[in-house]
Amino acid sequence: MDFNIAVLAGDGIGPEIVEQAIKVLKAVGVKYKHNFNFTEALVGATAIDQVGDPFPEETFQLCMNSDAVLFGAIGDPKYDNDPKAKVRPEQGLLAMRKKLGLYANIRPVTTFPSLIHKSPLRKDLVEGADFVVIRELTGGIYFGDKGRSEDLNTAFDTCVYTRFEVERILELGFEYAAKRDKRLTVVDKANVLATSRLWRETAQDMTPAHPEIEVDYMFVDNAAMQIIQWPKKFDVMVTENMFGDILSDEASVITGSLGLLPSASVGIHTSVFEPIHGSYPQATGKDIANPLATVLSAAMLLELALDLSDEAQAIRSVVDRSMIEGVVTEDISEEKAYHTSEVGDWLAANL
Ligand code: IPM
Ligand code: MG
Repeated sequence: MDFNIAVLAGDGIGPEIVEQAIKVLKAVGVKYKHNFNFTEALVGATAIDQVGDPFPEETFQLCMNSDAVLFGAIGDPKYDNDPKAKVRPEQGLLAMRKKLGLYANIRPVTTFPSLIHKSPLRKDLVEGADFVVIRELTGGIYFGDKGRSEDLNTAFDTCVYTRFEVERILELGFEYAAKRDKRLTVVDKANVLATSRLWRETAQDMTPAHPEIEVDYMFVDNAAMQIIQWPKKFDVMVTENMFGDILSDEASVITGSLGLLPSASVGIHTSVFEPIHGSYPQATGKDIANPLATVLSAAMLLELALDLSDEAQAIRSVVDRSMIEGVVTEDISEEKAYHTSEVGDWLAANL
């Protein structure tokens, strides 16, 4: 079959890692007789530099007209320490989420046996941990009214949620739980925040329709602690935008495989697939960044956006083999470290 994939490589190591995922997808195309058409577009700091807009209209139109978006990373140190910058790369990401209606960010947290020793946690705590963080992505404090007083000495950000938005994301949480171990943890701060009370109330209203799912509620501070103390207790965790931002980063490092974890952002229009790590500016152009998280994001793309599960599984298998055979980049290598491009070549050749 024919599929159109928009490629938004972005900043830092984005282009290098995305290039490897494309090699692997092309190999999938040859093996399974699909035709993937890749079209590149600008996003992030690169887009600001070239056209003054971190998510140009042309990029948006390309995404809308594609079957899926493969995304690299955005962010550039020249903006991080400049809180006064008027246009920021991150605005491109937020605009993309809003305009494509990507209300859910899905981050599976899985352990890779060969990398457990890289975990900051004790092996017995983390070995076999396997859960999914579902983060609401187009509401909450990220998108509420924000501003600054005239004298600039006061600032505010508003957290807003509607029942519709909460139901929509919780429904996805129930769906994922039904497909997995049937446990759903709703994370909020209902002891303090009105929006969190709306979340909890909505979840309680929805539970009778899902009798097979065991639902529990956890305050976000407690959840932050329990992810570290007892990661294996979670199956599906669902939470609002900002809590999800923080908890999903926390969850991603406990397995020791930050460079391996993919993510999907899904919603109303075209879905976006990207590694959970950032643009790693220190490694840019050095051909040392780990491409596996992006390659595994391509597997999620095949499975969730194109409904090609066998093809997705083929990618996961070849990634497993590259780790067993030690064809990996310096961040996870035990002996010889391979370059980013060598890992991509090997995966494509061995798929
Ligand atoms: C993420 C990132 C973004 C976010 C930033 C870059 C705006 O941290 O995707 O988790 O906060 O959502
Ligand atoms: Mg984040």
